Amino acid sequence: MILGLETSCDETAAAVVTDDGRVLSSVVASQAELHADYGGVVPELASRRHLELVAPVVREALRAAGCELAAIERVAVTQGPGLVGALLVGLSAAKAIAWARRLPLVPVDHLQGHVASLYLGEAPVEPPFVCLLASGGHTLLLAVRARGASERLGTTLDDAAGEAFDKGARLLGLDYPGGAALDALARAGDPGAYRFPVARVPGLDFSFSGLKTSLLYKVRELAPEEIASRRSDLAASYQHAIVRALVQRLRQAAEQAGLERIAVVGGVAANSELRAALPEAAFAPFAYCTDNAAMIASAARYAPALAYPSYLGLDAYASAA
Ligand code: KG4
Ligand code: ZN
Repeated sequence: MILGLETSCDETAAAVVTDDGRVLSSVVASQAELHADYGGVVPELASRRHLELVAPVVREALRAAGCELAAIERVAVTQGPGLVGALLVGLSAAKAIAWARRLPLVPVDHLQGHVASLYLGEAPVEPPFVCLLASGGHTLLLAVRARGASERLGTTLDDAAGEAFDKGARLLGLDYPGGAALDALARAGDPGAYRFPVARVPGLDFSFSGLKTSLLYKVRELAPEEIASRRSDLAASYQHAIVRALVQRLRQAAEQAGLERIAVVGGVAANSELRAALPEAAFAPFAYCTDNAAMIASAARYAPALAYPSYLGLDAYASAA
Protein backbone atom coordinates (compact mmCIF):
# COMPACT_ATOMS: atom_id res chain seq x y z
CA MET A 1 0.00 0.00 0.00
CA ILE A 2 1.25 3.44 -0.97
CA LEU A 3 0.52 6.68 0.90
CA GLY A 4 0.69 9.64 -1.51
CA LEU A 5 1.04 13.34 -0.67
CA GLU A 6 0.62 16.34 -2.97
CA THR A 7 1.15 20.01 -2.00
CA SER A 8 2.65 21.60 -5.14
CA CYS A 9 0.12 24.41 -5.52
CA ASP A 10 -3.13 25.18 -3.71
CA GLU A 11 -4.48 21.70 -2.99
CA THR A 12 -3.42 19.79 0.11
CA ALA A 13 -3.97 16.16 -0.83
CA ALA A 14 -3.31 12.66 0.50
CA ALA A 15 -4.35 9.27 -0.84
CA VAL A 16 -3.92 5.56 -0.23
CA VAL A 17 -3.45 3.50 -3.39
CA THR A 18 -2.65 -0.20 -3.74
CA ASP A 19 0.19 -1.55 -5.85
CA ASP A 20 -2.30 -2.66 -8.50
CA GLY A 21 -3.82 0.83 -8.78
CA ARG A 22 -6.94 0.65 -6.61
CA VAL A 23 -7.66 3.97 -4.92
CA LEU A 24 -8.64 3.21 -1.32
CA SER A 25 -8.97 6.90 -0.48
CA SER A 26 -8.25 10.27 -2.05
CA VAL A 27 -8.66 13.36 0.08
CA VAL A 28 -8.25 16.83 -1.46
CA ALA A 29 -8.51 20.02 0.61
CA SER A 30 -8.71 22.90 -1.84
CA GLN A 31 -7.51 26.35 -0.85
CA ALA A 32 -9.18 28.01 -3.84
CA GLU A 33 -11.39 30.15 -1.61
CA LEU A 34 -8.40 31.41 0.34
CA HIS A 35 -6.81 32.78 -2.85
CA ALA A 36 -9.96 33.91 -4.70
CA ASP A 37 -9.77 37.50 -3.40
CA TYR A 38 -6.29 37.85 -4.89
CA GLY A 39 -7.19 36.45 -8.31
CA GLY A 40 -4.45 33.83 -8.08
CA VAL A 41 -2.44 31.69 -5.69
CA VAL A 42 -0.43 33.64 -3.10
CA PRO A 43 2.59 31.38 -2.44
CA GLU A 44 3.18 32.31 1.20
CA LEU A 45 -0.50 31.86 2.10
CA ALA A 46 -0.50 28.51 0.32
CA SER A 47 2.51 27.24 2.32
CA ARG A 48 0.95 28.27 5.62
CA ARG A 49 -2.35 26.62 4.80
CA HIS A 50 -0.58 23.41 3.71
CA LEU A 51 1.16 23.38 7.06
CA GLU A 52 -2.18 23.51 8.88
CA LEU A 53 -3.83 20.93 6.68
CA VAL A 54 -1.22 18.31 5.88
CA ALA A 55 -1.51 16.22 9.07
CA PRO A 56 -5.35 16.21 9.21
CA VAL A 57 -5.55 15.40 5.50
CA VAL A 58 -3.15 12.44 5.85
CA ARG A 59 -5.09 11.23 8.90
CA GLU A 60 -8.36 11.49 6.95
CA ALA A 61 -6.89 9.59 3.97
CA LEU A 62 -5.83 6.73 6.27
CA ARG A 63 -9.21 6.71 8.03
CA ALA A 64 -11.19 6.74 4.76
CA ALA A 65 -9.04 3.90 3.41
CA GLY A 66 -9.71 1.95 6.60
CA CYS A 67 -6.01 1.39 7.14
CA GLU A 68 -3.47 2.04 9.84
CA LEU A 69 -0.18 3.78 9.20
CA ALA A 70 1.42 0.40 9.99
CA ALA A 71 -0.07 -1.04 6.79
CA ILE A 72 1.65 1.55 4.55
CA GLU A 73 4.68 0.16 2.70
CA ARG A 74 5.87 3.20 0.73
CA VAL A 75 5.40 6.96 0.93
CA ALA A 76 5.11 8.92 -2.33
CA VAL A 77 5.35 12.69 -2.54
CA THR A 78 5.46 15.42 -5.18
CA GLN A 79 9.02 16.78 -5.33
CA GLY A 80 8.35 19.36 -8.10
CA PRO A 81 7.60 21.31 -10.19
CA GLY A 82 5.50 23.75 -8.20
CA LEU A 83 5.73 26.45 -5.53
CA VAL A 84 8.85 25.58 -3.55
CA GLY A 85 7.47 26.68 -0.18
CA ALA A 86 4.32 24.63 -0.78
CA LEU A 87 6.23 21.58 -2.01
CA LEU A 88 8.51 21.65 1.05
CA VAL A 89 5.54 21.15 3.39
CA GLY A 90 4.48 17.93 1.67
CA LEU A 91 8.05 16.75 1.22
CA SER A 92 8.91 17.33 4.89
CA ALA A 93 5.74 15.60 6.05
CA ALA A 94 6.41 12.64 3.75
CA LYS A 95 10.02 12.36 4.94
CA ALA A 96 8.90 12.44 8.57
CA ILE A 97 6.26 9.74 8.08
CA ALA A 98 8.61 7.52 6.08
CA TRP A 99 11.53 8.06 8.44
CA ALA A 100 9.49 7.31 11.56
CA ARG A 101 8.44 3.94 10.15
CA ARG A 102 11.70 3.26 8.27
CA LEU A 103 9.84 3.11 4.97
CA PRO A 104 11.16 3.82 1.50
CA LEU A 105 10.19 7.17 -0.05
CA VAL A 106 9.35 7.80 -3.70
CA PRO A 107 9.86 11.37 -4.95
CA VAL A 108 7.41 11.97 -7.80
CA ASP A 109 7.43 14.51 -10.60
CA HIS A 110 4.08 16.31 -10.59
CA LEU A 111 3.75 16.05 -14.39
CA GLN A 112 4.40 12.31 -14.30
CA GLY A 113 1.73 12.23 -11.61
CA HIS A 114 -0.84 13.76 -13.97
CA VAL A 115 0.04 11.16 -16.63
CA ALA A 116 -0.29 8.37 -14.05
CA SER A 117 -3.88 9.47 -13.33
CA LEU A 118 -4.63 7.48 -16.51
CA TYR A 119 -3.55 4.26 -14.77
CA LEU A 120 -6.26 4.58 -12.10
CA GLY A 121 -9.92 3.66 -12.24
CA GLU A 122 -12.02 1.17 -14.12
CA ALA A 123 -10.40 1.43 -17.55
CA PRO A 124 -6.68 2.23 -17.21
CA VAL A 125 -5.00 3.41 -20.41
CA GLU A 126 -2.07 1.37 -21.68
CA PRO A 127 0.93 3.01 -23.39
CA PRO A 128 1.96 3.77 -26.05
CA PHE A 129 -0.09 6.95 -26.48
CA VAL A 130 0.26 10.67 -27.02
CA CYS A 131 -0.73 12.64 -23.95
CA LEU A 132 -1.91 16.24 -23.65
CA LEU A 133 -1.28 17.55 -20.14
CA ALA A 134 -3.22 20.78 -19.74
CA SER A 135 -3.42 22.36 -16.30
CA GLY A 136 -3.16 25.72 -14.59
CA GLY A 137 0.62 25.60 -14.64
CA HIS A 138 1.46 23.45 -17.67
CA THR A 139 0.59 22.63 -21.25
CA LEU A 140 2.60 19.72 -22.57
CA LEU A 141 2.44 17.17 -25.34
CA LEU A 142 4.14 13.93 -24.38
CA ALA A 143 4.87 10.68 -26.17
CA VAL A 144 4.30 8.03 -23.51
CA ARG A 145 5.96 4.79 -24.65
CA ALA A 146 5.74 2.92 -21.34
CA ARG A 147 4.33 3.55 -17.87
CA GLY A 148 6.76 5.90 -16.17
CA ALA A 149 8.60 6.84 -19.39
CA SER A 150 7.67 9.83 -21.52
CA GLU A 151 9.31 12.16 -23.98
CA ARG A 152 8.34 15.80 -24.50
CA LEU A 153 7.04 16.76 -27.94
CA GLY A 154 5.82 20.29 -27.30
CA THR A 155 4.96 22.84 -24.64
CA THR A 156 3.59 26.35 -24.24
CA LEU A 157 5.82 29.31 -24.98
CA ASP A 158 3.90 31.56 -22.57
CA ASP A 159 0.62 30.96 -20.67
CA ALA A 160 -0.65 27.48 -19.82
CA ALA A 161 -4.06 26.44 -21.17
CA GLY A 162 -5.62 26.50 -17.69
CA GLU A 163 -4.10 29.92 -17.11
CA ALA A 164 -5.73 31.11 -20.37
CA PHE A 165 -9.05 29.82 -19.04
CA ASP A 166 -8.51 31.51 -15.68
CA LYS A 167 -7.46 34.86 -17.18
CA GLY A 168 -10.39 34.83 -19.62
CA ALA A 169 -12.75 33.96 -16.79
CA ARG A 170 -11.44 36.89 -14.79
CA LEU A 171 -12.07 39.30 -17.68
CA LEU A 172 -15.64 37.99 -17.77
CA GLY A 173 -16.06 38.63 -14.06
CA LEU A 174 -15.79 35.04 -12.82
CA ASP A 175 -13.94 34.06 -9.62
CA TYR A 176 -10.52 32.38 -9.55
CA PRO A 177 -9.92 29.66 -10.71
CA GLY A 178 -12.48 30.32 -13.40
CA GLY A 179 -11.96 27.41 -15.81
CA ALA A 180 -14.93 25.35 -14.67
CA ALA A 181 -17.19 28.42 -14.35
CA LEU A 182 -16.25 29.58 -17.86
CA ASP A 183 -17.01 26.08 -19.13
CA ALA A 184 -20.47 26.26 -17.53
CA LEU A 185 -21.14 29.78 -18.84
CA ALA A 186 -20.05 28.78 -22.37
CA ARG A 187 -22.70 26.05 -22.54
CA ALA A 188 -25.40 28.68 -23.10
CA GLY A 189 -23.35 30.62 -25.68
CA ASP A 190 -22.55 30.56 -29.39
CA PRO A 191 -18.93 29.53 -30.08
CA GLY A 192 -19.06 31.24 -33.47
CA ALA A 193 -20.23 34.62 -32.14
CA TYR A 194 -16.74 36.16 -31.95
CA ARG A 195 -13.44 35.24 -33.56
CA PHE A 196 -10.51 34.94 -31.21
CA PRO A 197 -7.29 34.04 -33.00
CA VAL A 198 -4.79 31.62 -31.48
CA ALA A 199 -1.20 32.31 -32.50
CA ARG A 200 0.38 29.66 -34.69
CA VAL A 201 3.87 28.87 -33.51
CA PRO A 202 6.26 26.46 -35.23
CA GLY A 203 6.54 22.79 -34.28
CA LEU A 204 4.28 21.33 -31.63
CA ASP A 205 4.35 24.26 -29.22
CA PHE A 206 1.48 26.46 -28.03
CA SER A 207 1.03 30.17 -27.36
CA PHE A 208 -2.00 31.49 -25.47
CA SER A 209 -0.98 34.94 -24.28
CA GLY A 210 -2.27 36.73 -27.41
CA LEU A 211 -5.67 35.13 -27.00
CA LYS A 212 -6.22 36.65 -23.60
CA THR A 213 -5.20 40.05 -24.99
CA SER A 214 -7.75 39.79 -27.80
CA LEU A 215 -10.49 39.04 -25.27
CA LEU A 216 -9.33 42.04 -23.24
CA TYR A 217 -9.61 44.29 -26.32
CA LYS A 218 -13.02 42.89 -27.18
CA VAL A 219 -14.29 43.49 -23.65
CA ARG A 220 -12.97 47.09 -23.78
CA GLU A 221 -14.60 47.67 -27.14
CA LEU A 222 -18.08 46.51 -26.11
CA ALA A 223 -20.55 48.61 -24.15
CA PRO A 224 -21.19 47.36 -20.59
CA GLU A 225 -24.77 46.32 -21.46
CA GLU A 226 -23.52 44.35 -24.42
CA ILE A 227 -20.91 42.54 -22.32
CA ALA A 228 -23.60 41.69 -19.80
CA SER A 229 -25.97 40.31 -22.43
CA ARG A 230 -23.29 38.50 -24.45
CA ARG A 231 -21.17 37.01 -21.65
CA SER A 232 -22.01 33.45 -22.57
CA ASP A 233 -21.22 34.12 -26.27
CA LEU A 234 -17.88 35.63 -25.28
CA ALA A 235 -17.15 32.65 -23.02
CA ALA A 236 -18.15 30.13 -25.70
CA SER A 237 -16.08 31.82 -28.42
CA TYR A 238 -13.04 32.17 -26.17
CA GLN A 239 -13.25 28.57 -24.96
CA HIS A 240 -13.68 27.40 -28.55
CA ALA A 241 -10.40 29.08 -29.54
CA ILE A 242 -8.47 27.33 -26.74
CA VAL A 243 -10.05 23.96 -27.44
CA ARG A 244 -9.43 24.25 -31.19
CA ALA A 245 -5.73 24.96 -30.60
CA LEU A 246 -5.37 22.03 -28.17
CA VAL A 247 -7.17 19.56 -30.43
CA GLN A 248 -5.23 20.60 -33.53
CA ARG A 249 -1.83 20.23 -31.91
CA LEU A 250 -2.75 16.99 -30.17
CA ARG A 251 -3.82 15.30 -33.42
CA GLN A 252 -0.72 16.66 -35.16
CA ALA A 253 1.50 15.29 -32.37
CA ALA A 254 -0.11 11.86 -32.60
CA GLU A 255 0.54 11.77 -36.31
CA GLN A 256 4.16 12.93 -36.02
CA ALA A 257 4.94 10.49 -33.22
CA GLY A 258 3.22 7.68 -35.08
CA LEU A 259 0.98 6.93 -32.10
CA GLU A 260 -2.67 6.06 -32.58
CA ARG A 261 -3.98 6.39 -29.07
CA ILE A 262 -4.42 9.82 -27.48
CA ALA A 263 -5.06 10.76 -23.87
CA VAL A 264 -5.77 13.98 -21.97
CA VAL A 265 -4.90 14.76 -18.33
CA GLY A 266 -4.74 17.79 -15.99
CA GLY A 267 -7.38 20.23 -14.80
CA VAL A 268 -8.39 21.30 -18.32
CA ALA A 269 -9.21 17.65 -19.14
CA ALA A 270 -12.41 18.33 -17.16
CA ASN A 271 -13.55 20.76 -19.88
CA SER A 272 -16.77 19.64 -21.54
CA GLU A 273 -16.06 21.06 -25.00
CA LEU A 274 -12.61 19.46 -25.07
CA ARG A 275 -14.13 16.12 -24.08
CA ALA A 276 -16.77 16.42 -26.81
CA ALA A 277 -14.20 17.49 -29.43
CA LEU A 278 -12.07 14.38 -28.81
CA PRO A 279 -14.46 11.41 -28.80
CA GLU A 280 -11.57 9.09 -29.66
CA ALA A 281 -9.40 10.15 -26.71
CA ALA A 282 -8.99 8.63 -23.28
CA PHE A 283 -9.54 11.15 -20.49
CA ALA A 284 -8.29 10.91 -16.93
CA PRO A 285 -11.14 9.95 -14.56
CA PHE A 286 -12.96 13.17 -13.69
CA ALA A 287 -11.99 13.06 -10.01
CA TYR A 288 -8.28 12.79 -10.89
CA CYS A 289 -8.08 15.60 -13.49
CA THR A 290 -7.30 18.41 -11.06
CA ASP A 291 -4.49 18.06 -8.52
CA ASN A 292 -4.81 15.09 -6.19
CA ALA A 293 -2.54 12.62 -4.39
CA ALA A 294 -3.95 9.41 -5.91
CA MET A 295 -2.15 10.26 -9.15
CA ILE A 296 1.09 10.83 -7.20
CA ALA A 297 0.80 7.43 -5.50
CA SER A 298 -0.03 5.93 -8.90
CA ALA A 299 3.13 7.41 -10.47
CA ALA A 300 5.19 6.07 -7.55
CA ARG A 301 4.46 2.56 -8.81
CA TYR A 302 6.69 3.30 -11.83
CA ALA A 303 9.39 5.46 -10.22
CA PRO A 304 12.44 4.39 -8.18
CA ALA A 305 12.02 4.27 -4.38
CA LEU A 306 14.75 5.67 -2.13
CA ALA A 307 15.68 3.43 0.79
CA TYR A 308 15.46 4.61 4.41
CA PRO A 309 17.11 7.00 5.38
CA SER A 310 18.80 8.16 2.15
CA TYR A 311 15.98 10.57 1.31
CA LEU A 312 16.32 12.90 4.30
CA GLY A 313 18.40 15.46 2.34
CA LEU A 314 16.02 15.52 -0.63
CA ASP A 315 15.08 18.99 -1.90
CA ALA A 316 12.07 20.30 -3.83
CA TYR A 317 12.38 21.85 -7.31
CA ALA A 318 10.32 24.70 -8.74
CA SER A 319 10.43 24.13 -12.48
CA ALA A 320 10.43 21.18 -14.81
CA ALA A 321 13.90 20.03 -15.82
O1 KG4 B 1 -4.23 20.26 -12.70
P1 KG4 B 1 -4.70 21.42 -11.95
O2 KG4 B 1 -5.54 21.18 -10.73
O3 KG4 B 1 -3.54 22.32 -11.41
C1 KG4 B 1 -2.26 22.47 -11.91
O4 KG4 B 1 -1.44 21.54 -11.78
O5 KG4 B 1 -2.04 23.57 -12.45
O6 KG4 B 1 -5.47 22.36 -12.97
C2 KG4 B 1 -6.18 23.49 -12.58
C3 KG4 B 1 -6.61 24.24 -13.83
C4 KG4 B 1 -7.17 25.62 -13.53
O7 KG4 B 1 -6.58 26.56 -14.42
C5 KG4 B 1 -8.66 25.48 -13.78
O8 KG4 B 1 -9.29 26.66 -14.19
C6 KG4 B 1 -8.66 24.45 -14.90
O9 KG4 B 1 -7.66 23.53 -14.52
N1 KG4 B 1 -9.98 23.78 -15.04
C7 KG4 B 1 -10.74 23.88 -16.15
C8 KG4 B 1 -11.93 23.15 -15.90
N2 KG4 B 1 -11.85 22.62 -14.64
C9 KG4 B 1 -10.63 23.03 -14.14
N3 KG4 B 1 -10.53 24.52 -17.32
C10 KG4 B 1 -11.49 24.43 -18.26
N4 KG4 B 1 -12.65 23.75 -18.09
C11 KG4 B 1 -12.92 23.10 -16.94
N5 KG4 B 1 -14.07 22.44 -16.79
ZN1 ZN C 1 -1.34 19.74 -11.57
